[in-house]
Amino acid sequence: MSSLIGAIDQGTSSSRFLVFDLRDESVIAEHQIPIRSVYPQEGWVEQDPMELLDTVKQCLNQVHGQLHQSGRSLDLKAVGVTNQRESTVVWDKTTGRPIHNAIIWLDTRTQSTVNALMKCAGSKGKDSLRDKCGLPISTYFSAVKLRWLLDNIPEVSEAAQAKRLLFGTVDSWLIWNLTGGVNGGRHVTDVTNASRTMLMNLKTLQWDQELLDFFGVQLDVLPRICSSAEIYGHLNFSGSDWPDVPIAGCLGDQQAALVGHQSFNAGTAKSTLGTGCFMLFNVGEKIVTSSHGLLSTVGYQLGPDEAPVYALEGSIAIAGAAVKWLQDQLGIIKEPREIELVASKVEDTSGVYFVPAFSGLFAPHWRSDAKGVITGLTQFSNASHICRAVLEAIAFQTRDIVDCMYQDSGLTLNKLLVDGAMTKNNLLMQIHSDILNIEVVRPEMPEFTALGAAFAAGKAVGLWEPGRISGNAQKLFRPVKSPAWRTEKLNYWHKSLEKSLNEEP
Ligand code: G3P
Repeated sequence: MSSLIGAIDQGTSSSRFLVFDLRDESVIAEHQIPIRSVYPQEGWVEQDPMELLDTVKQCLNQVHGQLHQSGRSLDLKAVGVTNQRESTVVWDKTTGRPIHNAIIWLDTRTQSTVNALMKCAGSKGKDSLRDKCGLPISTYFSAVKLRWLLDNIPEVSEAAQAKRLLFGTVDSWLIWNLTGGVNGGRHVTDVTNASRTMLMNLKTLQWDQELLDFFGVQLDVLPRICSSAEIYGHLNFSGSDWPDVPIAGCLGDQQAALVGHQSFNAGTAKSTLGTGCFMLFNVGEKIVTSSHGLLSTVGYQLGPDEAPVYALEGSIAIAGAAVKWLQDQLGIIKEPREIELVASKVEDTSGVYFVPAFSGLFAPHWRSDAKGVITGLTQFSNASHICRAVLEAIAFQTRDIVDCMYQDSGLTLNKLLVDGAMTKNNLLMQIHSDILNIEVVRPEMPEFTALGAAFAAGKAVGLWEPGRISGNAQKLFRPVKSPAWRTEKLNYWHKSLEKSLNEEP
C-alpha cells in the first residue's frame, strides 16, 4: 500500500508542494516558487491572493509531472495544507475574486484600528480579550486586519452587507479554491489557524459571539472551524492534473512544525527560524494563560474526536527578514547564506548590538511603536560586527521568550528543537546554544513544517499515528561560554532593547 502524502506549504516568502513517503519521512518530490511582497506605504506589507493560489497550483502540477514520470502519481493518498498565519484574505463568493490584496501578518497599518479598539477594551487594556482568545490586541492578528478592511475599503463593507463577503486566513483561501471555488468550494479553517484570528474561543474552539461583537464581524463571513486532521474536501480546481485526492490536514505553519518535530509531550518546545522566529512550547491539554506577554494558542487537534493540545508561543517578527535587510538595503552580503561567513570573520561583535524592530516588537513586548536600533558603533565597527549582531539578536530575543515560558509554565527545557532555513547556519546555532545555555538539536531533515502537515493528513486517512519514532539524524550544539559572558551580553542586550522601546519616531 502506498504511503505517499503531499504537503502544501504556503509561507511568507514562497509556495511549495512536497511529497513525503511516510514510511521513512523522506521527501520524494518537491517544487517551490518565490512569492512577491509589495510595500505600498511604510509599515504596509501585502501579497496578491491570486499569486498565492496560482503558485500553489503550479507547484501541485509540477510535482504531479515528477511523480507521473516515475509512475507514482496515483499513489498520493492525501494532501495537508500549512500556511503563513494571520495574513488576511477577503473575497467575493459569487465571483471567487479577492476584493483586496492579502494583508500580511507583518503589516502594521492597523495601529489606528488597535488604538480605536483599545478605547472599547476593558480595564486590562490590550490584554482584555486574553481570557477568551489567548492573544493581546495587536496589529498582528487577523480580526484587527479584517476590521481595518471593513472600515477602509468600501468594496469590502459593501460585499459584507450584500452577504457576498468571505474572510479567510491563507489556509481557507487555498482550500476553498482547491476544492471547487465558486462551484462548491469548502469554506473551512482549522483550530490552529482560527486561534490566530482573535475571534475563536480557546476553550470551545468555536467562533465566540462576544469577540465577534467586539470586532464588529458577522458570523456568515467566517469559515467553519475544523480539527487539524480530517477530510475537508477533495482536490478539484481548473487545470488540475490530480485525480480526486482528499485534503485531509491543515495547520498554521508554526503549529505544523510542532507536529513535524513530534513535540507531543508537555514541556517540549521547538523554534522555527524563517522570515520571523516562532517558539512553541507544548503545555498539554490545559490552556496556560501567560502573564509575561506570550500567546496562548492551539498547538494541534489531530482529529475531530481528539482533545486539543495547547501551546505557549513566543513570536519574533524579524529573523531571516533582518538578514534579507542586510542584503537588500545595506548590501553588505550578496545572499542570505553569506552572513555566516561574514559574521565568522570576527570573534565577537565588539560591543555592537542590533534590535531589529522593523514591525515593532512582538513577544513579549507587543509594541508596534518600537523602532529598530544599532548600538555600540565605533570607527572600528565593520560589516562582520553588524552581521554577527544580527545573528545574536535572534538568539537574545529567543532567550527572553524562553525566560517568559519558564515563568509562565513552571517547566524548564532540557533541549531546544530547531528547524527552518536559518538553522543551516552553524554559527547561529552555536550562538543560540551559548545564549540560551541549553542544548540545541537540529535534525538533518529540515522540512518540519511540511512534514507536520503531511502527518496530520496521514492521520486523517489512517497512514500515520502520533508517537511513531522518527529516524531522523540530528546535530547537537552545546553551550561553551561562561555564565559571566552570558550575564554581560544579556545586560547590554537589554539596554539596547530599552532604546528600541523608547526611540522617538
Ligand atoms: O505568524 C506568522 C508565521 O506563520 C509566518 O511564518 O514561516 O511564513 O515566516 P513564515
